[in-house]
Amino acid sequence: MSIIEKALEKAQHKHADETSHVGVVEKLELPDAPSIASITEQLQDTHPSINAEGNLKPVSGEKSEKFHTIDWAALKSLGMLAPDIVRSQMVEEYRLIKRPLLMNAFPDGDNGIERSNLILVTSSVPGEGKTFSAVNLALSIAMERDKWVLLVDADVAKPSVSRVLGIKEQPGLIDLLTGKGLRLSDVIIRTDIPNLRILPAGTIHQHSTELLASDVMKRLAKELSERYPDRIVIFDSPPLLAATQAPVLAGLVGQVVLIVEADVTPQYIVQESLAKLADCKVVGCVLNKMKKGFGFTYYGLGYGYGYGYYGQPKNTD
Ligand SMILES: Nc1ncnc2c1ncn2[C@@H]1O[C@H](COP(=O)(O)OP(=O)(O)OP(=O)(O)O)[C@@H](O)[C@H]1O
Ligand SMILES: [Mg+2]
Repeated sequence: MSIIEKALEKAQHKHADETSHVGVVEKLELPDAPSIASITEQLQDTHPSINAEGNLKPVSGEKSEKFHTIDWAALKSLGMLAPDIVRSQMVEEYRLIKRPLLMNAFPDGDNGIERSNLILVTSSVPGEGKTFSAVNLALSIAMERDKWVLLVDADVAKPSVSRVLGIKEQPGLIDLLTGKGLRLSDVIIRTDIPNLRILPAGTIHQHSTELLASDVMKRLAKELSERYPDRIVIFDSPPLLAATQAPVLAGLVGQVVLIVEADVTPQYIVQESLAKLADCKVVGCVLNKMKKGFGFTYYGLGYGYGYGYYGQPKNTD
């Protein structure tokens, strides 16, 4: 049994009855921060994108004017996917990773997973490969011609998606949540992969956790899921155990991909993360940066992944 499988099994038993921290705003201990209610109230007063019922107004035309050409050579130098890499071990590995996610997102019937097209990519601690995996997953799905992807940089304290893709600092997710009167179409960026859009993190904000936990964010998540039922929305996030934003985000999405750095992240740390995700219906684990063979060589594109499910949709138990 692999480390991941053991971790999953133990965590399943140990934490089955525990209360999850996911989405429970009241539990955040930030004494100096304004309350969620006051932020929400203020946003409803000042945010022109929110109507009287407190819902985001429809975006006229839906068409984003911003466009970014991805620097594929730079991505390749990081060992990432690119449209002209048709066959490689990594292409195959991402096929394996995305299949179950897509099957859950677009089920034949009702699989009981709410907002199943929203996927959070997270990890226990920094540097395990969240951004690398979120970008590759988005590219892999977007390169399938009939699938649409919105990649959201939800690591709002340390935005990395834009850095990796070479997108300059500009308004994004946080600005949508802070009452600046912006609409989704003002901040979403089209790319030279027609099926791929990017939502940058936007302006760094000291109360980003509260903003991500706010009712406005909940409505945005619902809206992204319902308005674009044929679209996958991938959120790159901060680590689960090092920041408060990721557990909050986990409460908004239908599926979570937990990146685990092979041979580095200890089992008890993985278990702790799984405990934080106990309320999430679908949690997949990706074993990242696996060493190949028995030698000491690291292969740039040859990193491997294991994938397994923790938690199952209700009606498939
Ligand atoms: N499978 C992989 N193959 C090659 N390089 C990888 C792989 N996964 C991650 N890396 C590299 O490891 C480093 C850390 O990855 P990444 O930035 O994606 O981690 P992260 O979990 O998003 O970190 P942070 O918590 O700081 O946001 C980067 O240089 C990335 O290019
Ligand atoms: Mg990152």
